[in-house]
Amino acid sequence: MEVIIVAREEDVAKIAADRVQQQIHQKRDSVLGLATGGTPLRLYDELESRVQKKSISFAAVTTFNLDEYVGLPPDHRQSYAYYMDKHLFSRIDIDREKTFLPSCPDRKYVTRTCEDFEQALRASGGIELQILGIGTNGHIGFNEPTSSLRSSTRVKTLTKQTVRDNSRFFRSGEEQPSLGITMGIGTILKSKRALLIATGNGKATALAQAIEGPLSAMCPASALQLHPNATFVIDIDAASRLSQRAYYLWVMASKDRLERSAEG
Ligand code: F6R
Repeated sequence: MEVIIVAREEDVAKIAADRVQQQIHQKRDSVLGLATGGTPLRLYDELESRVQKKSISFAAVTTFNLDEYVGLPPDHRQSYAYYMDKHLFSRIDIDREKTFLPSCPDRKYVTRTCEDFEQALRASGGIELQILGIGTNGHIGFNEPTSSLRSSTRVKTLTKQTVRDNSRFFRSGEEQPSLGITMGIGTILKSKRALLIATGNGKATALAQAIEGPLSAMCPASALQLHPNATFVIDIDAASRLSQRAYYLWVMASKDRLERSAEG
């Protein structure tokens, strides 16, 4: 796994945007996996600005989101479909027909929604670059601790901690769903590249467990240790509990030296 530690939140967004740009430059009709939450907001701002500067185009790109609340229609202000529209899709040149979320406004259809989502993923040829955040409890998507490491898209009951962490996005008194549909860990592991971004002290323990802890269903993000091409881009605060921090910085410096000598 590649661990990139940077000084500021803005650097996390820039490096992640560079990776998205490289992917789309390599293949204009790339299939991307996307996340919601607070962490990717700067990345999405950065992508919008690159589209405006014409450095990148999403015209041929297909996207699949990791997760969605069960029971919220796409036009609900707290749905992830609404979030994606507001923070990314309405601001870039993407074809909405090529954007997929596991939306399930009616709980009756959850099984069908999960099957259709996996089918659409297969039909697309699979995710080439998956963007991920991490929960304070180590979740990725809505794969909460004890999720099967081979799981595919399914319904998960959110932990109290996740409900609490996400309550900041809901107005007081507003009903907050406790069920989510999420790509499974097995689904995420099938992506060709995975890029996890994280910032702030609140993520430090989860990241230490994910990167250095044992592979365990208790920290779903630790499953990325099995991924053939996973990168973590994190800021100094989020890296504060990594015991091998000096080593990751040393690897980064060595790569820089090699690149500079190859250029010179
Ligand atoms: C949301 C998702 C979640 C978030 C995680 C961190 O689509 O995949 O796993 O990435 O809950 O959320 P923030 O970024 O709000 O701390």
